[in-house]
Amino acid sequence: MVKINQNYLKLPGSYLFSTVGKKIRAYESAHPEKRVIRLGIGDVTRPIAPEIIRSLHEAVDEMGRAESFKGYAPDLGYAFLRETIAENDFQSRGCRIDPDEIFISDGAKCDCGNIQEIFSTDCRIAVCDPVYPVYVDSNVMAGRTGVYDTELGRFRDVTYMPCTRETGFVPELPEEDVDLIYLCFPNNPTGAVIKKSKLQEWVDYANDKGAVILYDAAYEAYISEEEIPHSIYECPGARECAIEFRSFSKTAGFTGLRLGFTVIPKDLKAGGIRLWDLWARRHGTKYNGAPYIIQRAGQAVYSPQGKKEIRKQIAWYMENARIISVGLEQAGYEVSGGVNAPYIWLRTPGDMTSWEFFDYLLEGANVAGTPGSGFGPHGEHYFRLTAFGNREDTLEAVKRIKKL
Ligand SMILES: Cc1ncc(COP(=O)(O)O)c(C=O)c1O
Repeated sequence: MVKINQNYLKLPGSYLFSTVGKKIRAYESAHPEKRVIRLGIGDVTRPIAPEIIRSLHEAVDEMGRAESFKGYAPDLGYAFLRETIAENDFQSRGCRIDPDEIFISDGAKCDCGNIQEIFSTDCRIAVCDPVYPVYVDSNVMAGRTGVYDTELGRFRDVTYMPCTRETGFVPELPEEDVDLIYLCFPNNPTGAVIKKSKLQEWVDYANDKGAVILYDAAYEAYISEEEIPHSIYECPGARECAIEFRSFSKTAGFTGLRLGFTVIPKDLKAGGIRLWDLWARRHGTKYNGAPYIIQRAGQAVYSPQGKKEIRKQIAWYMENARIISVGLEQAGYEVSGGVNAPYIWLRTPGDMTSWEFFDYLLEGANVAGTPGSGFGPHGEHYFRLTAFGNREDTLEAVKRIKKL
C-alpha cells in the first residue's frame, strides 16, 4: 500500500499567508462596506517596465518565425543571460563569478526550497529567527528538522539564530556545530541588512567549520547605502563556502513572469565533491529551463534603458517605504527596515502579540499586514508592512493607522 512522506505531517498549521488571507476574507465578508488595504504579502504592483515589455514582444515574435524559433532552453540557462548577469551583478563589483557558475531558474523560492536536496539529511541547518518560512519548511519535508515543539514554536533539530533589535536584527555566530546556514540580506521580514565586516565573519566561520552558507539576496536591488554588500562574493573566501540566490521578482517586477538564478562557484566543495556538479545534475534531471522569452526579458533588465527604468521603479517603492516609516514613527511606533529593503518591521504597541495587533489593525484601520510571530518566535511583538502597495493605498493606510 502506498505510504505518504510522513515529514509533511510535521508542518505546523497552514502556511502563514494562507492564514492571513483567510482572516482578511472573513473580515471582508462580515463587513462588505469596508475596504481593506493589503500591505501584507510581498507582491509587486507596478507594471513591467516598458523596455522589458519591448524585449518580451520581440522574443515572442522570434518564436513565431521558423528561423528564430527556440525549443527547450539549455538546462542551465541561455549564455546571453548568464554572461550579462556575471558581468553586471558580479564582475562589476569585483566578484569573480563566471557565467557558467550561474544557474538560471524560474525563481528564488524554488531554488531556496530545492537546494537542500543536494545535502545529506544528517546536515544540521541554522536559520535566522524570524525567517522566510521556505528555508525551514523545505527542510521539514526532507526530514532534516525533527519534530515541531508546539510550546517553543520550533523544530527540535534546527538551530535558530535570534535576530533582535539588540543585534540590529543580524544573527550572532551559532555556538553549536551547524552544516547549512541560511542567511538572507536585505532581510525578509525585518528589512535589516548586514555590513561587509559582519558578513566576512560568517564567511570565515563557515570556512573554518566546513559549513555552507545559503545566501538569499532576493532584495539586493533595494540596497541604497554604499557600505552594504550586494553579494556574499564581495567577501574573500565566499567562493569556497557560499551559494547565492537571486530573483528578478522584486528587482524588476517578475513575480508573475518568473525568473531567478543561483550561483554555485566551482571552488565550493563538500567532502571533495563539487556542489556545482550536483546542482547541474539536479537541474538537468528535474528542470527544463526558464522560457526563452522570459530570459530575454531578464537580459533587458541589464540594458542601459532597462536599468534606468528599474531604478525608477525601485525608487517608487522605496518612497512608499519612507512614507510608511516616517508616518509610523510620527504615530509613536518603533520602526526599523525600510531603508535598504521594501519591508518595514515595527514593534507592536504595549504588550500586544503580533496576531492581536493584526486584528487590531484589520478591525480598527482596515489595514492588513503580516504578524511577525508567523516568521518565528523572535518575531513575536513585531509586525511586517510592505512597500509594494500602490501610492494612494499606502498614504491612506498610514493616515488610518495614525488615527487609531
Ligand atoms: C527572501 C525571499 N527569497 C525568495 C523569494 C521568492 O522569490 P521568487 O519570486 O524569485 O521565487 C522571496 C519572495 O517573497 C523572498 O522574500
